[in-house]
Amino acid sequence: MEKCFRRSVLLYTVVAAVLFSFVPVSISIPFILFHGIGDKCSGGVSNFTQLLSNLSGSPGSCLEIGNGENDSWFMPLIKQTSLACEKVKQMEELSQGYNIVAESQGNLVARGLIEFCDNAPPVINYVSLGGPHAGIAAIPKCDAGPFCAIAEDLMKLAIYNDFVQEHIAPSGYVKIPGQMSNYLEHSKYLPKLNNERPEERNSTFKERFASLHNLVLVMFQKDTTLIPKETAWFGYYQDEGFDTLLSTKQTKLYREDWIGLKALDVAGKVKFESVLGDHLSISDEEVGEYVVPYLMQSSM
Ligand SMILES: *[C@@H]1O[C@H](CO)[C@@H](O)[C@H](O)[C@H]1NC(C)=O
Ligand SMILES: *[C@@H]1O[C@H](CO)[C@@H](O)[C@H](O)[C@H]1NC(C)=O
Ligand SMILES: *[C@@H]1O[C@H](CO)[C@@H](O)[C@H](O)[C@H]1NC(C)=O
Ligand SMILES: *[C@@H]1O[C@H](CO)[C@@H](O)[C@H](O)[C@H]1NC(C)=O
Repeated sequence: MEKCFRRSVLLYTVVAAVLFSFVPVSISIPFILFHGIGDKCSGGVSNFTQLLSNLSGSPGSCLEIGNGENDSWFMPLIKQTSLACEKVKQMEELSQGYNIVAESQGNLVARGLIEFCDNAPPVINYVSLGGPHAGIAAIPKCDAGPFCAIAEDLMKLAIYNDFVQEHIAPSGYVKIPGQMSNYLEHSKYLPKLNNERPEERNSTFKERFASLHNLVLVMFQKDTTLIPKETAWFGYYQDEGFDTLLSTKQTKLYREDWIGLKALDVAGKVKFESVLGDHLSISDEEVGEYVVPYLMQSSM
């Protein structure tokens, strides 16, 4: 009797195991994180990645481009993006789709990955923390040694010079109001990413970006790094100069929907959020409110 009971339990266990292997099981979607300029995946960023993983219960990792700190400054963004594209395609765990969290300049790598990467797995949710999406209007400060000083000086000297554009990453998204024709003609990254050149707009970039399930744009209210801070929401100065700051919906990028931002917004998929601190300074509560929920959704 006892033996018979045990055998039937065993049988049920086996049957259940077989059945469940055919029933789709809900699994967490993995995420990847892109750090900002002058940063690297180890150190503080690895803690943050771990924190997000702990809070969401989803597996996640920081995706490094080249050697981290140095390459984030000196490898042009188009190259950084294509390295990210190759890496993502090799990560088996992302093949069914994944989420992205990006910090600062890492957002331009993330968005390049979403828009430019052919035959890539789908990105589901994308959380952007302080991303210079519409450009920055001032040369970024770099205070980490002599190489930085050289980079800063070169950018001040001739931001749209080909050499600078090809060797200093942030030059790819410096957009000086009042210098639009120079920018559109010579900038090697942001005009492409934002489909800004009328004759070169690529609808594939737009389709890919517009296929996100959620786009969370977090702006830092006391941001002193991004000028203007509203670039984190795609807001920016008018082309002619610094006098007028356009809100997201006043920009041509939005109104003419060059990259699908308006389409996403109209579908209720863009969350414009703002937090209290300076650039990338975000509390655990804010992380819990604006980041973690988008990493928790499961796929069937
Ligand atoms: C990372 O977290 C550990 C403890 O979990 C802490 O000792 C360390 O200081 C943190 N590192 C940074 C750079 O925040
Ligand atoms: C994440 O969870 C692990 C295991 O519970 C713990 O050791 C680690 O300190 C946590 N890290 C962070 C940053 O929350
Ligand atoms: C970055 O560049 C500095 C200065 O050339 C060098 O000392 C450092 O080793 C480099 N770091 C890496 C990871 O290549
Ligand atoms: C647009 O981008 C896609 C994906 O990179 C590419 O295959 C296509 O050739 C581009 N179209 C044009 C008109 O440049």
